[in-house]
Amino acid sequence: MVTAYDFTMARLLDEGGADILLVGDSLGMVVQGHPTTLPVTVEEICYHGRAVMRGAHRAHVVGDMPFMSFQVSPTQAVENAGKLMKDGCFESVKLEGGEEVAEHVRRIVNAGIPVMGHVGLTPQSVHAMGGFKVQGKGDDAERIVNGARALEEAGCYAIVLEAIPPDLAEEVTASVSVPTIGIGAGPRCDGQVLVCYDLLGMYRDLKPKFAKRFAEVGDQIVGAVRSYVGEVQARSFPATEHSFKPNNATTVQRSAPIAPLPVVIDPAEIPPHWQTH
Ligand code: KIV
Repeated sequence: MVTAYDFTMARLLDEGGADILLVGDSLGMVVQGHPTTLPVTVEEICYHGRAVMRGAHRAHVVGDMPFMSFQVSPTQAVENAGKLMKDGCFESVKLEGGEEVAEHVRRIVNAGIPVMGHVGLTPQSVHAMGGFKVQGKGDDAERIVNGARALEEAGCYAIVLEAIPPDLAEEVTASVSVPTIGIGAGPRCDGQVLVCYDLLGMYRDLKPKFAKRFAEVGDQIVGAVRSYVGEVQARSFPATEHSFKPNNATTVQRSAPIAPLPVVIDPAEIPPHWQTH
């Protein structure tokens, strides 16, 4: 699984073999430039979802339920999950949380909408967690295992495990029968997910330990734009091969050559009322 936010990228990720594209609320950070995912709205997820759906020919497309679009009540959760399916054209939704959102999941699933869960570091709770920190250490491990079990029982078809110790991820994976999808959760999950801009080396503000860069596309973009700017300034771009054939028939015929502009003005020709001294 990999995140996607627009048509062109979705088409490339789909062609690259990603089997699930997630329109994550991470778009608040990597697309919109916010420091957290909290400002993202249902409408924004839907806007990006429609674009991604047009580029995804094979991959399953999941829409993230943004902060405060489901936490208020199970009824609110069903309504907004429905909006994501209708307006965002998604095939399933994802939401963050463990036991505390199990009832919300159950109600969405009962409405016929597949749900992916998400436990461990849940970025929508960044302020409650005191930052983007590894979760499930020590006694907190039980909360993560119980959360995953509750999500499975409520009907989730898969569960994201974010930023938890690898042995805990292995335990969770063994405790549930649905697939786990890890990000910063070690190699023993059933699948893995990365933010596409991290994977491609395009988002350079944060460098989480787990975000392996499989390419340095950011450097390539900067290099390409520098070359473009240089060639435009040197007038070597566009060259003949980038220009259309001249259409001589419609070339403007000038009746008389344009007189060259005078380079030097004779002070004697300056009208007296222009002269200041
Ligand atoms: O919003 C997102 O991109 C996510 C993934 C990191 C799992 O939730």
